Amino acid sequence: MTMIKKIKFLPMNLSCSFEGAKSILEVALNNNIALNHSCGGMGSCTTCRVKVTKGLEKLKPPNEIEQEHIQAREFAKNERLSCQTDAVDGVEVEIPEATE
Ligand code: FES
Repeated sequence: MTMIKKIKFLPMNLSCSFEGAKSILEVALNNNIALNHSCGGMGSCTTCRVKVTKGLEKLKPPNEIEQEHIQAREFAKNERLSCQTDAVDGVEVEIPEATE
């Protein structure tokens, strides 16, 4: 039996289920949520930055690409790049206003 995993997106308050290994950005786009991704998920634009409002401790630590942006752009502790962060069940994120 496969466990149904879900993450929730704010401010629309939408719970989205996903299977397997997906980035938070992929889960959003698969569910028609307009999460910015100017560079197409390559980790270079930072428009996909989200605020983690629940479950921050469940996420894997930032990879090298994300680390660089976190330092250069002074991310808050709960801010992550959604294209570089694996979706984990029970996490809740707030997405920025659409710019595309
Ligand atoms: S989509 Fe460009 S950094 Fe994530």
